[in-house]
Amino acid sequence: MNLNNFRLNLGGKEYVPIMIGGMGVNISTTELALSAERLGGIGHISDAEGMFVCDQIFGTTYTNDKRKRYAANVNNSDKSIVQFDLEQVAEAQKRYVTHTISQKSGNGAIFMNCMEKLTMNNSAATLKVRMEAAMDAGIDGITLAAGLNLRSLELISEHERFRDVKLGIIISSVRALSIFLKRAVRVNRLPDYVVVEGPLAGGHLGFSPTDWASFSLKSIVTETIDFLKKENLDIPVIAAGGIFTGSDAVEYMQMGSSGVQVATRFTIAREAGLPYEVKQHYINASDEDVVVNTASPTGYAMRMLRQSPTLKYGMKPNCEGLGYLLDNDGKCAYIDAFYQGQGSRSAEGRVTVDGPTCLCTGMARYDCWTCGSTVSRLKETTNRLPDGTWQIPAAEEIFLDYLLSEGHSIRRPAPEKQS
Ligand SMILES: Cc1cc2nc3c(=O)[nH]c(=O)nc-3n(C[C@H](O)[C@H](O)[C@H](O)COP(=O)(O)O)c2cc1C
Repeated sequence: MNLNNFRLNLGGKEYVPIMIGGMGVNISTTELALSAERLGGIGHISDAEGMFVCDQIFGTTYTNDKRKRYAANVNNSDKSIVQFDLEQVAEAQKRYVTHTISQKSGNGAIFMNCMEKLTMNNSAATLKVRMEAAMDAGIDGITLAAGLNLRSLELISEHERFRDVKLGIIISSVRALSIFLKRAVRVNRLPDYVVVEGPLAGGHLGFSPTDWASFSLKSIVTETIDFLKKENLDIPVIAAGGIFTGSDAVEYMQMGSSGVQVATRFTIAREAGLPYEVKQHYINASDEDVVVNTASPTGYAMRMLRQSPTLKYGMKPNCEGLGYLLDNDGKCAYIDAFYQGQGSRSAEGRVTVDGPTCLCTGMARYDCWTCGSTVSRLKETTNRLPDGTWQIPAAEEIFLDYLLSEGHSIRRPAPEKQS
């Protein structure tokens, strides 16, 4: 029995039941998402720091232009005037989605991971623009993430694709799902799928840094499936977090899940956006290197490698150019920590900031090495080369291993010859 014995049915269309989860900022690249799509699965791109990502891909200058526009504010701890231009947010989003969607060549789909916590100093308006622009540009689906997303459906309810685009939500408890569904009923639009993300996932977690270990994905998946049955709702459940082998995935399918969302194994794929050296760090990681901390200014716990350079940041907040985590009052926990940290300068004059990190910068520079708890097992998935480095597998090899492997075996990529 392998994962290929199952299919994920979304709105009458069948997919290979593997979703590659959204990994901001540009870790789940266009190329990574397309590799899943080509093989009949679902790939996510992410719109975290979308304008910055466009600058990297297309050479646009959104970030620099915004930095220049607000240059006079860089030494001000009050960032309330630092607003995104909504037309530019839409333009960048459409450009990125069009670029990705236009390269589809398989039977799968491309979804957008849309995080509510990316409040951008104007949360409702920017989220609406991001989602509507993605739909305008032909995205196949939107996965609502990082938040309860209570208003998210209402924001796009007037859009012509509201009923045809696939809409899903990531939840970590039945309670969060039931609150979301009450709001969904109001706009008469139930989600097409529910991703249940457990405590072993990468990125932000729906659990606290102190209690995540007392939860299990299997229990939450079972509770979610039971709850949906009781409510007479036929909504596919996708399990996520710590699913490392194809056989792990099969166990979830046999419990009644309709698919799995996986990410950590793909962080080291050739197509993933992390730089080569960072991929090597991920593969070399041991269990002791993995921490769940409160460094994210969003207030959510996050899992990352303790060697992440972002944890040593003491830089001036970068909100004039980035500013994706500013709340509606122009505030971010890192700004407060930075200005409080002004008192603690090192002998070299470096400011040291305790607590939150400048996550916008950390993610943009690939300095925040977020990962799922299975990161220390990546060594099992690839080959060590004669010089001690690790071979970087193609996304297709990882995808097919999930799909075809049995008995918890993992097929390493065909050995690469070093020149
Ligand atoms: C490097 C990395 C970045 C991630 N970034 C995001 C993100 O931006 N938004 C989100 O909803 N989930 C994010 N996640 C969570 C994944 O999409 C996925 O649900 C989860 O990590 C699956 O578990 P696994 O990594 O154990 O396979 C991230 C995960 C990783 C490993």
